[in-house]
Amino acid sequence: MTTTSRTGIPGTRPNESSLTLRRHVLDLDDFSRDEIEEVLKNTDVMREVLGREIRKIPTLRGKTIFTLFYEASTRTRASFEEAGKIMSADVINVSAGGSSVEKGESLYDTALTLQAMRADMIVIRHSDSGAPYFLARHLDAPVINAGDGAHAHPTQALLDLFTIKNHLGKIEGKKVAIVGDILYSRVVRSNLWGLTKMGAQVTVCAPPTLVPPDFLAGFPEEHAFSNLQVTTRVEEALEGADVVMALRLQLERQKSGHLPSLREYARMYGISTQRMKLANSGALVMHPGPMNEGIEIDADVAHGAASVIEEQVTNGVAVRMALLYSLI
Ligand code: NCD
Repeated sequence: MTTTSRTGIPGTRPNESSLTLRRHVLDLDDFSRDEIEEVLKNTDVMREVLGREIRKIPTLRGKTIFTLFYEASTRTRASFEEAGKIMSADVINVSAGGSSVEKGESLYDTALTLQAMRADMIVIRHSDSGAPYFLARHLDAPVINAGDGAHAHPTQALLDLFTIKNHLGKIEGKKVAIVGDILYSRVVRSNLWGLTKMGAQVTVCAPPTLVPPDFLAGFPEEHAFSNLQVTTRVEEALEGADVVMALRLQLERQKSGHLPSLREYARMYGISTQRMKLANSGALVMHPGPMNEGIEIDADVAHGAASVIEEQVTNGVAVRMALLYSLI
């Protein structure tokens, strides 16, 4: 049976519970809670593989994964590559710089080229929101969105969910404060789907210029994000939080005039040791990276005892292994 999600792409199914039926991972909006649970369970298995002395399993032998990165990346690209290689797939990395994109080739033609090379999976990061959806519509191979514009970053949200569950035992009922560039961050958007579907209480916090205006207007009870609060006061967000997630200011996406200065932002919204005292004892500190230490987060918090930031990176490899396993 082929079902179609609200994105109109055949093979993405709204609220189906079996991961094995899924074709693409474009965002978490079309994941059910059961399906997220299934990814987290599979990630647990992959974490065990990552802990082995010899980290190699034959699962994807003979399969070819293309990663297509049109935007800068360190951990996401490397983590897809590592995930694929541990599972014995051949991973071929293409970045915009140095490719035919510089000669004016369209995304569509590049994708057709990769398809002609028998790609079994395409992982794409693009500065335009919607680019992965475009590929999913036109290609036979499964597509994973590794970040599109300010829109979505589903694998980051899944690794964040796994990290929270791993440390706190569950996500349901936990208070998660997300502080930073809410307006331009794709990480926050996918996390809002994931966290609210899993029953967390989410508070997002940013200066008024970095929150979408409709967020500030509040959400009606029946809205998918009804367990989401919005505040411009960082103290209010951090009060009683079980998780504090700092986000980088997406300066490359921001137009001018959002902030008086970075120093002012750091003073008003930066996650410091002092501010962390407002959170629950044992609260986790998270950041998707790359960090601008001293701006959205102080170095002693980023590298302190409560920080699980490096673990997020390790979990990122395991989550991506789990997804590759299910999709290919
Ligand atoms: C994030 C991204 O690219 O959206 N980074 C990542 O994938 N780990 C966050 C960011 O760039 O700030």
